[in-house]
Amino acid sequence: MKTRLSLTVNGETHEVLVPVHKTLLEVLREDLGLTGTKHGCELGECGTCTVLVEGEPVLSCLALPVEMEGRAISTVEGMAEGGVLHPLQQAFAELGAAQCGYCTPGILLTARTLLEDNPAPTRPEIKEALAGNLCRCTGYTKILDAVELAALRMGAAS
Ligand code: FES
Ligand code: FES
Repeated sequence: MKTRLSLTVNGETHEVLVPVHKTLLEVLREDLGLTGTKHGCELGECGTCTVLVEGEPVLSCLALPVEMEGRAISTVEGMAEGGVLHPLQQAFAELGAAQCGYCTPGILLTARTLLEDNPAPTRPEIKEALAGNLCRCTGYTKILDAVELAALRMGAAS
């Protein structure tokens, strides 16, 4: 059975007709072509599928699109504005905080929420916030450095 839904993603509203069992992750990637959100474990363990719903991190592999109607969904595709990278994206690129990049979208979105709630986090606070996002490549040091650098720059700019 399919259901018709209206989803607001990165400020744009999309009408989709999807099987009721499809996850938000599958609808974002397969129906809306937003492949920045990555498909990892599908079990809620790796964090690669993280998106923001009303500004809070949500594992899209465990979320049903029907629960998302009328709520603002943000994916990594919405982070850069007017062709300008978000300070987190800029810092990740400069410091080489992404290697294969598979975990990067989920980490960027989780870190964005952290910096909105806590503009000057300590390193332990950054580690705690990112604890649900696994990375197989970087050893985390560069990721933590990049979040700190972005926080500094965002603090200086405000
Ligand atoms: S794919 Fe969702 S937590 Fe791993
Ligand atoms: S950069 Fe490869 S999994 Fe994190």
